Order: sequence, then C-alpha cells, then structure tokens
Amino acid sequence: MPALILGATGNIGPHVVDELRRLGDTPRVLVRDGQRARALFGPDVEVVAGDATDSDAIRAAAEGMDSVFLLSPHSFTMADLQLGVIRALRRTGIRIIKLSGTASAITPDGPLACREHWEIEQVLEGSGQPFVILRPNSFLQVLVGKLMLPGIHSTGKIINPLGTAGISMIDARDVGAVAARVLTSHAWDGQTLSLTGPRPVTYAEIAEAVSARRGVPVAVADVTLDQVHASLTANGMAPWEAEHFREMYELFAAGASAFVTDTVREVTGNEPRTIEAYLDETLAAEPVTA
Ligand SMILES: NC(=O)c1ccc[n+]([C@@H]2O[C@H](COP(=O)([O-])OP(=O)(O)OC[C@H]3O[C@@H](n4cnc5c(N)ncnc54)[C@H](OP(=O)(O)O)[C@@H]3O)[C@@H](O)[C@H]2O)c1
Repeated sequence: MPALILGATGNIGPHVVDELRRLGDTPRVLVRDGQRARALFGPDVEVVAGDATDSDAIRAAAEGMDSVFLLSPHSFTMADLQLGVIRALRRTGIRIIKLSGTASAITPDGPLACREHWEIEQVLEGSGQPFVILRPNSFLQVLVGKLMLPGIHSTGKIINPLGTAGISMIDARDVGAVAARVLTSHAWDGQTLSLTGPRPVTYAEIAEAVSARRGVPVAVADVTLDQVHASLTANGMAPWEAEHFREMYELFAAGASAFVTDTVREVTGNEPRTIEAYLDETLAAEPVTA
C-alpha cells in the first residue's frame, strides 16, 4: 500500500522505511534535504523534497497515497506542524498514522510535548479521517544511546533522577516494525496502540549491564528533579524543554512508564528487542570506556 513517510531521516523514520522495503513496498518520503535522503536511502525509496509545514507540499506529496506517517520532532512547534498536516489532508480520505508519545503522559495537562500530542490526537480522532495512533515508550536509541552512553563515556556514571523506578523502553526498530505493519494493513484502523519494550529497566540495571559488557565500573549518581532541571538549563537547554524533561522524569520516577504491553508481538509476530540485545550490538560497535 503506498505510503508517504514524514520524519524519515530521524530516530524512527529510517526504521519505518527499512521495514516497508522489507515488506516489499516502495515508500515515498518527504524530506527537507532531498540530496541527503537520496544518498541515505538509495534508489528503492521515492524522495520528494519539501517542508512539512507547507500544506501544498504535503498535499502534492500525499497524492495517490493510501497513508501518511505523521512524525515531527519534539519541539515547541510540534503541534503547529502536525495539525497543519492533518488540516492539509482533510477530506482526502488519506489515512494518517500518527507517532505520538508515551501513553502515561498523553493528557491535557501532561508535559509540554505530551499535551501537544494529546491535542493532535484529539483533532485527528475527531477529524473523520481514517487514522491509527502509535504511543511508544522512550526509545532505547535516544534515552540510552544518545543520553546515557555518552555520559558514561565521559564521566563513568549515569545521572539518575528516577530512583528505583523502571521504564519499559522500546527499541526504535520495533517502533519502525509496528509502523510498517500498520501502514501496510487496515486491521488497526481507528485504534491507539501503546508500544513498550519487554520489561521495565531501572537506571541501576542499565549501569550494571553496561559495566558487565565493558569490564569497567559504571556508577549511578542519584539526583533530584530540581538538580536535573538546573543542569539541563545550565547546559543551554531552552526553558520549555528543560521543564518538559523535569515533568517527564517526575512521571517516570513515579513508575508511570513501567507498564508493559504485548502490542509489538501482536502486530509484528516478533518479541520486542531487549535492552541486553541493544547493548550487545551498540557496545560492540562503539566501545565505551570510563
Ligand atoms: N525520544 C523518545 O524517547 C520518544 C518517545 C516517544 C515518542 N517520541 C516522539 O517521537 C517524535 C520524534 O521522533 P524522532 O525521535 O524520530 O524525531 P527526530 O529524530 O527529531 O527526527 C525528526 C524528523 O523530522 C524531520 N523534520 C523536521 N522538521 C521538518 C519539516 N519542517 N519538514 C519536513 N521534515 C521535517 C527531520 O528531518 P531533517 O533531517 O530535515 O532534520 C527528521 O527526519 C516526537 O513527536 C516525540 O515526542 C519520542
């Protein structure tokens, strides 16, 4: 089924594209830098250069498509962009598969990006357009890969604002695999699917797992929510984003994202990848030293 993928060059998008190709589809991607995307994806992906904030570009790129995969970056303007896409596609009959946030935080007064997701979901569900909403927990590749492992590399420790609470983080490849199945079937139309990894993992368990694989000690430095907020701000993070993270960590520390669903297995037929498998692959590719 023909699908247009937005956000194809980020953390999740490439896995959606890869899975669609594995399933025999030729996805179309709307990207800001066409040359870079052509080099990234090769000839089996149809690359359209354009900006997702441009409704004419969205309508033109979505022409002839069964579905649009709606993903845009975590940013202060996320809702503006995504509501613009929904508006641009209204009355086209094209299905929208929206990548949302962790289920526990999607509330009208949740952390900023999550209340934006909530608002977008409300509009999408009320739009009369066919849709599926995907609500993944934190991505291993971001929380562990982009935040923890570089910290371990430079300081030998993990900064822990969560106490003993765990998060059932999900591998970005499993999010891509679910998205591709949903994009190639109408079996889940009208549904909201919560996606998690196989079990909740604490920061102490992650430190131990990295330590065991690298043969170096990894310490866990417990911090308060105020300390993590101050440190993010001191490192130049925008105030809205530092506040977003503080609120997310507060929810995580209360165990709100420790829940586990069977959705990855039910949709893809495969068990969700474990953090151990992710660390085995990642640390083999990028040795970490303390
Ligand atoms: N991080 C997590 O753990 C987590 C967990 C659950 C949900 N989420 C949600 O996941 C989403 C982010 O996904 P991600 O991490 O894959 O995003 P990402 O890595 O930030 O990638 C964003 C993508 O959007 C593209 N893009 C940005 N602005 C655009 C525009 N104006 N027109 C066209 N393309 C544009 C970027 O393209 P360029 O290459 O041109 O920049 C890139 O491909 C957010 O909604 C976030 O709330 C994140």
